[in-house]
Amino acid sequence: MIRIRVLFVCLGNICRSPAAEGAFKHIVNSSKLGEMFEIDSAGTGDYHIGELPHEITRGVARKRGIVLDHKARQFRSSDFSRFDYIIVMDDSNYRNVIALASDETEKDKVVKFRQFERESSGTPDVPDPYFGGLEGFENVQDIVLRSSEGLLDWIQKKHAGLFQS
Ligand code: 4NP
Repeated sequence: MIRIRVLFVCLGNICRSPAAEGAFKHIVNSSKLGEMFEIDSAGTGDYHIGELPHEITRGVARKRGIVLDHKARQFRSSDFSRFDYIIVMDDSNYRNVIALASDETEKDKVVKFRQFERESSGTPDVPDPYFGGLEGFENVQDIVLRSSEGLLDWIQKKHAGLFQS
């Protein structure tokens, strides 16, 4: 079976990208499409390798029925061949990931997550909640859920042949 491989990337891989990974898995599984996808996350930094997501990130996800158990890992250039889509949270992630790409095909795999957000406020980045309070973490959780719905729609349209039942 052909699987579509999606990697979410932020800086630390303990707040935004594991929240995005969990939200996208949740939406995909709710649509009974889990078999069609391989979904992972990574950080451009190495500060938190091996750690579970931030406690508040896990808490706000759990409130929405999403359990986050990813262990942080660092993005590496081999991820360009392992994944079809590399979904970054902000411009800084975008620059850091693009810097490791070896050609245009790899660069073309990198897209910013919030462009898919339903009812978008037009804000282009998923804001980093790490140095702020609970409200920022709640906001990120809402953004990643809305953006996941739009991302799934976009992928289904791009791969229409694969999703015909
Ligand atoms: P994330 O948030 O990129 O959404 O996982 C951060 C987590 C940790 C750090 C920065 C951002 N840090 O500097 O340790």
